[in-house]
Amino acid sequence: MAILVTGGAGYIGSHTLLYLKEKKEDVIVLDSLQTGHRDAVIHGTFYEGHLSDRGLLDKIFTSHKVSSVIHFAADSLVGESVKNPLKYYENNVLATYQLVNKMVEHGVKKLVFSSTAATYGEPTSIPITEELPTLPTNPYGETKLAIEKMLKWADQAYGLKSISLRYFNAAGADPEGRIGEDHNPESHLIPIVLQAALGQREHVSIFGDDYPTDDGTCVRDYIHVLDLAQAHYLALQRLEKKEESGIYNLGNGNGFSVKQVIETCRAVTGVEIKAISSPRRTGDPAVLIASSERARSELGWSPVYPQLDQIVQHAWYWHKHNPTGYNR
Ligand code: UFG
Repeated sequence: MAILVTGGAGYIGSHTLLYLKEKKEDVIVLDSLQTGHRDAVIHGTFYEGHLSDRGLLDKIFTSHKVSSVIHFAADSLVGESVKNPLKYYENNVLATYQLVNKMVEHGVKKLVFSSTAATYGEPTSIPITEELPTLPTNPYGETKLAIEKMLKWADQAYGLKSISLRYFNAAGADPEGRIGEDHNPESHLIPIVLQAALGQREHVSIFGDDYPTDDGTCVRDYIHVLDLAQAHYLALQRLEKKEESGIYNLGNGNGFSVKQVIETCRAVTGVEIKAISSPRRTGDPAVLIASSERARSELGWSPVYPQLDQIVQHAWYWHKHNPTGYNR
């Protein structure tokens, strides 16, 4: 039996493929390559295509024995989602509807879904538990939340069991440097700071230094991408054993400010990275720190790389050896 991984050419998807390869799982990968990279797909049978292609989904489900799906394929830029919300409704909500519809049609009843901390919006308390209100402040979070709700009803009506994983800030890379993070344009803090360390940027802009935090900059919970991968695997195992849907936060439970991240990058790279205070970025909550107690106790999840300096070291190894990403 095979696992279908949508969006397997993306950052978190490709690291999950690596993890599944080590577990000797049979994998089918579907990715449109609109933002993903073919070279990042280091395991599985690859199909290039979009979830809107119903014929392709039929072909995959009829020619392979698919037991479960891990669904990463999505648009995931908060800023872009505010400017172009319909793109997010189409590529996230509508595309997932097509996938779920085909899963129901072909009798595939297990799904692990890539959700986000953005479903919470501005949290009412810290650390964030899964019970907190979900009030997204942008269409990206809104579309991911809409999908979580669609999945809840799909369970009730069709018995499709799903686990939604709400990631906090994914970071790091394969410690051996085979794959890593490569977004174009890059918007995430750690790769941007490392690009500055490589001389590809003149400086890093600190988006706001007047937040109600210790040093005035935003605090986030950085989680190693391979620890996220581990959680997807454990979620699939739980669906096999328990046949029970659920929602889980994934973070280390430690908050680091933007300034602390830049300091860590300076220490790891040995480069005096220039940082400049800039205006706040619209929609950034001051503090996002996860409680992942539920994932630990119910999935048996235990992060292997919880230290920020190790996360940055792995990211640095990738960026240093692949300064132009997959465009080698
Ligand atoms: N930041 C800077 N300068 C930069 C880039 C980022 O100061 O050049 C700051 C941001 O303002 C933020 C922090 O660094 O305070 C982290 O920013 P990222 O863009 O790396 O990550 P976000 O916390 O904005 O985004 C993450 C996920 C999203 C998810 C969001 C939920 O990447 O998918 O959390 O709020 F939607």
